[in-house]
Amino acid sequence: MNILITGGCGFVGTNLCLFLQKNKYKISSLDNLSRKGSKYNLKLLKEQKIKNYNFNIDDYKKVSKLPRYDLIIDCCAEAAVEVSKKKIDKVISTNLIGTINILKKAKIDKSKIIFLSSSRVYPIQQINKLVKKNNFKMKLIKNKMFDENTKTEGPKTIYGVTKLASEMFIEEFSYAFNIKYIINRCGVISGPLQFGKQDQGFVSLWIWKHIMKKPLTYIGFNGTGNQIRDVLHIYDLCEIIHIQIKKFQSINNQLFTIGGSINSFISLKDLTKLCEKITGNKLITSKIKKTSIYDIPYFITNNTKIIKTYKWKPKNNIINVVNDTYDWLMNNKSKLNKYF
Ligand SMILES: NC(=O)c1ccc[n+]([C@@H]2O[C@H](COP(=O)([O-])OP(=O)(O)OC[C@H]3O[C@@H](n4cnc5c(N)ncnc54)[C@H](O)[C@@H]3O)[C@@H](O)[C@H]2O)c1
Repeated sequence: MNILITGGCGFVGTNLCLFLQKNKYKISSLDNLSRKGSKYNLKLLKEQKIKNYNFNIDDYKKVSKLPRYDLIIDCCAEAAVEVSKKKIDKVISTNLIGTINILKKAKIDKSKIIFLSSSRVYPIQQINKLVKKNNFKMKLIKNKMFDENTKTEGPKTIYGVTKLASEMFIEEFSYAFNIKYIINRCGVISGPLQFGKQDQGFVSLWIWKHIMKKPLTYIGFNGTGNQIRDVLHIYDLCEIIHIQIKKFQSINNQLFTIGGSINSFISLKDLTKLCEKITGNKLITSKIKKTSIYDIPYFITNNTKIIKTYKWKPKNNIINVVNDTYDWLMNNKSKLNKYF
């Protein structure tokens, strides 16, 4: 089977390229190398003789000239929510037009699609309501997890809208043109090959800052660092996508929520403690008390459907994510500095 991975030099894309290539699939990547760190990841693809098509995904002329692929895994996005408030055109053309271009190509070639969607399709106010504002002391609320049936109506960030609209276009193309698809709506994903930023990839950024002894800032929620996210190890995501590919004939045209869930979640404050323990470094921290209208205090995924459907569950928890990311960063420290 030959597979095209869009955003193949990004964090998720590169991990998938390398993992699936090892599992004997023929892999190509499409990536314009706009994300800091994608040039580093490109070298890893080149070492494995994986070709990257370096152009903008919003250019349909170029997309239409690509060879035929049996499966396209769409991991291409401008994935930072705060950027989506500032660079609206770029986010819409990469995230939404990009996916529509992939769908038009899949329609001609009769390719299958796996789409990487996001937990940010859920409305901000609904999430805010969950967490009582008792000095921003968030805690796990076991019966408050997000799944495939959670309502999506309401403002959710421009990034989130492009992901939800992409999901809808995929369902629409599937209905009209019989394209088979799987949508994976993921919470925070982390692990090696992630070049984290404050609003995207915070786990790897936090570990990197501790290694490099750079100051930390708790942003929003009164500067408490109490916000909680579940975190899925990238190796678990690669494993479940591999299973999805193998079972595509019998399980398709479905949407799944996938995340670290209650076995792998952490607050920013506790992540700091973990990073201090593993690096031995305690950093100077500052606070920005004001919360962005795009930030959320809490997110935990309900994995029930994916577990039941594939008889699979994530093997790793947040400790494994932090350890594996730390090992990768430490082992490549001198080469990685310019990409953070
Ligand atoms: N990382 C997470 O925590 C997370 C969580 C949920 C969903 N997702 C989704 O998973 C996918 C992959 O995310 P990621 O963390 O790997 O992001 P990433 O930024 O690391 O990777 C995206 C890649 O797309 C490329 N790209 C951006 N704009 C492009 C364009 N116009 N044309 C061609 N290439 C372009 C970038 O260079 C980058 O290499 C995204 O769709 C994202 O929405 C990620």
